[in-house]
Amino acid sequence: MKILVSMGRGGTGKTSFVALTTKYFVEKGELPILLIDSDPDQSLADALGVDFEGEGKKTISELLVETFIKGGGTLIGVPPSERMESKIWEEGLYEGEHFDLIVMGPKWVEGCYCLPNEALKLALGNLAKNYRYVVIDTPAGIEHLNRRITARVNDIFDLIDPSVKSFEHVARAYRIAREVNIKFDNFYIVGCFRFPEDLGSEVESRLGLKFLGKIAFDKDVEAFFLSGRSLLEIPENSPAYRSVKEILGRAGY
Ligand SMILES: Nc1ncnc2c1ncn2[C@@H]1O[C@H](COP(=O)(O)OP(=O)(O)O)[C@@H](O)[C@H]1O
Ligand SMILES: [Mg+2]
Repeated sequence: MKILVSMGRGGTGKTSFVALTTKYFVEKGELPILLIDSDPDQSLADALGVDFEGEGKKTISELLVETFIKGGGTLIGVPPSERMESKIWEEGLYEGEHFDLIVMGPKWVEGCYCLPNEALKLALGNLAKNYRYVVIDTPAGIEHLNRRITARVNDIFDLIDPSVKSFEHVARAYRIAREVNIKFDNFYIVGCFRFPEDLGSEVESRLGLKFLGKIAFDKDVEAFFLSGRSLLEIPENSPAYRSVKEILGRAGY
């Protein structure tokens, strides 16, 4: 099992990157895949053409509230993480043809309840063992690193735009990931669709991190987003998809 995480500032294409990465794994037959949307904005389901609520699924936030706040104290003897895990299997897991999806939802980001958070981490850890790949979409910024939903990831893909803020973001994200003790194998930099290719080597020398390439600007991505079509259906030769394939190839996938 491998865990991949997309990170970066708002609008850099984190969600598109996760969706196109999913397409890549699906096409290579590298299944099963679990996607986790940890952005309270909840846009990953849309990018994949999934009507999460319409499918009758509940976010992790809702399940945490039901299990620990409203229903507290019931099911004595069942460890909290097991209660949480079975809730997720029953009500929180969207099971699609090509991938499964969990949505964290807003409350999880707002509140900090230690017991539920611990239970959730254990539950997610257990659940993840059933998959070949777990791909996590994150909110903009780096605050979410403090509430890590997993202490161990394989590859972080930090998407950057060509701004000073973006460079600062990467440097801070890298530092914080280490401070909060998230174990990762690789912290990669990926240029977003607004990034000039020739800045790649500068990124490497300024940040001391590996630059995997940039995602090409792609009008299809825009159009798919607007129409709510799944990015899994984007044409094989679409520029953004081709660059994601190259980037993942360079990361060893
Ligand atoms: N490769 C691309 N080419 C053109 N537009 C893109 C590309 N990737 C993303 N976008 C556009 O940028 C916007 C933000 O993308 P998104 O993946 O939601 O970013 P984030 O998750 O970082 O906020 C979307 O509306 C999308 O249309
Ligand atoms: Mg997003």
